Amino acid sequence: MARPRTLALVLGVSVLLFAAIQLVPYGRNHANPPDGSLVAFDSPATEDLAKRACYDCHSNRTKWPWYSNIAPLSWRIQKHVDEGREKLNLTAFDPAAKEMSEAAGEAGETVTKGEMPPNDYLLAHPEARLTVAEKKTLVAGLDRTFAAFAEGGEKAGNGEKGAKGEREDHERGEDKD
Ligand code: HEC
Repeated sequence: MARPRTLALVLGVSVLLFAAIQLVPYGRNHANPPDGSLVAFDSPATEDLAKRACYDCHSNRTKWPWYSNIAPLSWRIQKHVDEGREKLNLTAFDPAAKEMSEAAGEAGETVTKGEMPPNDYLLAHPEARLTVAEKKTLVAGLDRTFAAFAEGGEKAGNGEKGAKGEREDHERGEDKD
């Protein structure tokens, strides 16, 4: 049984630590960089869905929630946004960057597989949760939008297939991993 004084000490130290980590500069600058070249989406529907489910991490238009100001959560969120923008930036798209063109080719697939948006993000962002139909629309739209970056044509689901929204074979298929 901890004595009241010990408890008070532990609590006091925790509060001080929590206060101290708030002073770390990393993760506190939430000024979004200006847009670069925008991705030319195949349709407004695709763009809307991407805005809802992807833009917070894959664009320069991040909406920073209040808790993104609180360490240590702020550090994790900052890291996701930095990495997300680096891999695939939908409002500063650079097709010459190898990593980005590769990610573009895989974008639809990451949604099909349920890898994107990440699960922990969805917990905090119910508005980014997509219905099965919305997912299909987004996947087909991303495949069309980034058809030029699709690998080989069969792997990433090529434009034609995506255009018809027939992705069942792809969803079932174990063509990667
Ligand atoms: C919470 C932030 C977040 C959201 C929201 C998000 N992503 Fe990501 N995404 C990341 C991070 C971080 C990475 C890089 C690390 C990784 O691969 O997990 C990434 C990587 C990717 C990649 C590169 C391939 C890969 O797996 O590394 C693609 C493609 C991608 N995301 C597509 C999307 C799409 C499409 C959406 C919307 C449906 C989306 N992401 C939503 C954070 C996010």
